[in-house]
Amino acid sequence: MPAEASGPSVWPAAGVSRVPYRVYTDPQLYAAEQERLFRGAIWQFVGFAVEVPRVGDFKTTWIGDTPVILVRSGPDEFSAFVNRCAHRGAVLCFEPSGHRQQFTCVYHNWGYSLQGDLKSVAFQRGIRGAGGMPDDFDRSQHNLRKLRVQVLSGLVFASFSETVAPLEEYLGERMTAHVKRMFARPVKVLGSYSQVLHNNWKLYMENVKDSYHASLLHLFLTTFKLNRLSMEGGLALDESGGHHISFSKMATDTVGGTDYESGKLRAQDDDFSLRDPRVLRSWPEFSDGITHAIQGLFPNMVVQQIQNSLAVRVLVPRGVGECELFWTLFGYEDDTPEQLRTRLRLANLIGPAGLVSMEDGIVGNFVQRAIGERPMDQTILEMGGRTVESQDTRISEASVRGFWQCYRQHMGL
Ligand code: FES
Ligand SMILES: [Fe+2]
Repeated sequence: MPAEASGPSVWPAAGVSRVPYRVYTDPQLYAAEQERLFRGAIWQFVGFAVEVPRVGDFKTTWIGDTPVILVRSGPDEFSAFVNRCAHRGAVLCFEPSGHRQQFTCVYHNWGYSLQGDLKSVAFQRGIRGAGGMPDDFDRSQHNLRKLRVQVLSGLVFASFSETVAPLEEYLGERMTAHVKRMFARPVKVLGSYSQVLHNNWKLYMENVKDSYHASLLHLFLTTFKLNRLSMEGGLALDESGGHHISFSKMATDTVGGTDYESGKLRAQDDDFSLRDPRVLRSWPEFSDGITHAIQGLFPNMVVQQIQNSLAVRVLVPRGVGECELFWTLFGYEDDTPEQLRTRLRLANLIGPAGLVSMEDGIVGNFVQRAIGERPMDQTILEMGGRTVESQDTRISEASVRGFWQCYRQHMGL
């Protein structure tokens, strides 16, 4: 990293209760993130095992801005490698998903096994003794760039790093337990979509980790008096500060409806109320009573439980001022048809046009467009104190500070 992008000059002396705006606009920091974070010592979610059910099934994705292929390479084996031919660097697979016996590059037909090993080079021996590769050309030296792979509860993670701790250690006990809670039953993928956000990727992760904006920014919640910060809940952080869970308990009545239906949360006569409360109908998904849980896994993954709307979100940076947010909505194999319908109705809350999450798609840009001229200024993060710790309130920015603590560690800032 260039000298001027590192060291104490980047970060204010006040520490993680301040964030320099430059982290959202500096192209040198963006390049360093690709190297130190995304190709560094992190684990990155690359897909559900059920998305590639048969040997040879693959999906393409990204780790940071590096294109990656996830493939089921054996009955119980997953492989991941960079989606780039070892010869001249052409993209190997253009489709979002598909099936292959082997991967063959369209440019000069180099062929790779499902494990990413180079198996064949067209015209390796030339034609009638003329041309071809040198005699000492060793195919085994030109495999695809392979990643380490680990699976947790049907979630496949990959890493460029040989030194990153095993996945469960990287996540820590509390975060691993939450992943196991969410994925204890076989998953059924319900659908996926993506949205382009016109802001630096970290602004969206901060938004996810900022639990106190929800009742202020999201007018659907305030208008219909939902998800109040007075509900029982809190923030749980791991030791690094980089991962978090924000959780709350919305009371549900005995027949499995929400308090909204029973009238306790319904707005007064002079306020708005929902004509059709089915849009919010839910049942207790887990026995622990937690109805809302947003888990942020460092650096760019979100596991979402909003009542019975379940999803995984992953952010892909697309340059310093833009990113793409990929949503995968899921339920469970053994869902009843009625439960499935409920999940689909609740999906109205989320996504780019979601009744709740619509504003999160633009508010990062509100920041990005205002800081253009002031890269040396800084933001304030003092809600809930100036420290990084778990708290039994959600009126706090502790998990945002935790993100920056972990970020600075990885980036050496
Ligand atoms: S670039 Fe792939 S075979 Fe030449
Ligand atoms: Fe939000």
